Amino acid sequence: MQQALRIPVSGAEAIDGTDLIGHAEAFRNARKPSLTAPPAKSETRGLPLVIRDLRKAFGDNEVLRGIDLEIPAGQFVAIVGQSGCGKSTLLRLIAGLDKPTSGTISFGETAARPEDIRVMFQEPRLLPWARVLGNVEVGLGRERKAAGAHERARQALEEVGLAEKRDQWPAVLSGGQKQRVALARALVSGPRLLAFDEPLGALDALTRIAMQRLLERVWADQTFTAILVTHDVAEAVALADRVLVIEDGRIAEDISVDLPRPRQRGSAELAALEGSILGQLLGPGTAG
Ligand SMILES: Nc1ncnc2c1ncn2[C@@H]1O[C@H](COP(=O)(O)OP(=O)(O)OP(=O)(O)O)[C@@H](O)[C@H]1O
Ligand SMILES: [Mg+2]
Repeated sequence: MQQALRIPVSGAEAIDGTDLIGHAEAFRNARKPSLTAPPAKSETRGLPLVIRDLRKAFGDNEVLRGIDLEIPAGQFVAIVGQSGCGKSTLLRLIAGLDKPTSGTISFGETAARPEDIRVMFQEPRLLPWARVLGNVEVGLGRERKAAGAHERARQALEEVGLAEKRDQWPAVLSGGQKQRVALARALVSGPRLLAFDEPLGALDALTRIAMQRLLERVWADQTFTAILVTHDVAEAVALADRVLVIEDGRIAEDISVDLPRPRQRGSAELAALEGSILGQLLGPGTAG
């Protein structure tokens, strides 16, 4: 069963002409007013996150060695760090998919419900035997059989620009489209915290930029708290309010990205910030 759930990602898939037009339209449509004026904190439905002295060891391997972190409701936080430094481990702990060795993770005053927190992974993990709409409905969990489930799934598909693909099988979709279905599945339950583990890592450069804009737009529209693990520092500074660098099992840097949205990719300010974070990641004297 587990095997059947795994669908290989076809790597950097080329996008065809139709997709390119779709992306160009998505770029234009993405310029919604909400992006230029991000929601005030009081309007957010995001969950705040407070982590205290979080530790996680696998046998002798102490991966997280005392993480202390406060994320206000609705903030967009990116996490970067060298491969194996514990980024996915941290996300799994936040999402409740694994248990800490010690320390605490809390979400404000109210207890988070399972549907409040969703994770999106690098592989879309779609069910091959279910059509696109059915795949999105999976994200509703227990509410999948409730009245209105179809409509909620349809709206989530519309949010990611894929309403017309509702009756398709996953196998006929491009890599970028599969990730958009996975995003719709994550959004359909109306999560208050969405964690992304390298969700765009397998996409080609153009599709990746279109997806980054889509992520930013749905975050601005839906006001959840976003935690994005990425290897791509340019992506981190383009999207996040704040970038955390993990090193030696702790947060080594906590950098605020205080630039207005939508951000100008390729701007001198973003490039300078990216350079300084890369310098931190690669060590002294290595950033160009
Ligand atoms: N279930 C597990 N059992 C044993 N060790 C694990 C387990 N999960 C992770 N680890 C170890 O914890 C460390 C951190 O892994 P993790 O997947 O969190 O790294 P990462 O920062 O996400 O790396 P990458 O950027 O390559 O995805 C690694 O040394 C890994 O081998
Ligand atoms: Mg990882």
